[in-house]
Amino acid sequence: MHSAMTSLDDAVSDVMLELDLPCRRSTLHLAKRIAKVSVAGDLIVLQGPLGAGKTFFVRGMARELGLPAHEPVTSPTFALVQELPTHPPLVHADLFRLKSAAEVADLGLTAAREQAVVVVEWGETYVREMGGDALLIQLTRSPKRAKLSATGPTAKQRLAQVSALLPLPVPARLRQ
Ligand SMILES: Nc1ncnc2c1ncn2[C@@H]1O[C@H](COP(=O)(O)OP(=O)(O)O)[C@@H](O)[C@H]1O
Ligand SMILES: [Mg+2]
Repeated sequence: MHSAMTSLDDAVSDVMLELDLPCRRSTLHLAKRIAKVSVAGDLIVLQGPLGAGKTFFVRGMARELGLPAHEPVTSPTFALVQELPTHPPLVHADLFRLKSAAEVADLGLTAAREQAVVVVEWGETYVREMGGDALLIQLTRSPKRAKLSATGPTAKQRLAQVSALLPLPVPARLRQ
């Protein structure tokens, strides 16, 4: 079955995981599971309107990867990119204010992947400029839901690993 995501990028796989996120805890649960399967080199792209929970999601990932409780995770809308002292390091970017693919390419996120997990808010249209093969997480605000898909082989593998970690029957559906 083809998903609506296919139009975004020819490489987007038809495998998609959809989840209801009825409370903050369920979002945290998903973020922690994604963090557990992530390794340096991975690219995770969070999409969704303001208030959907993108930064909250990154915070959950960062705590799972060992960010001390006193270290804040804020939206890097003005800083654009910030590196969090986690294991592996988490490079958190917000591309909302960027206007072109060239500006995104200049941020050096492809190179950052050599040492870190790169997690990007508003990066859906710039996956190529960040080295491709992204795990796409689309969040909706009301009701809160997540749609996960992959634009390459590594991300597709992560998607399979994440769905194996989620307790059944929480996933709304996993289709192929
Ligand atoms: N599943 C959820 N249910 C209820 N509230 C949530 C959920 N996930 C996140 N939130 C809350 O939504 C608000 C907006 O989150 P935020 O991460 O700032 O959004 P964004 O970065 O997408 O603009 C925060 O107050 C956060 O605690
Ligand atoms: Mg945010």
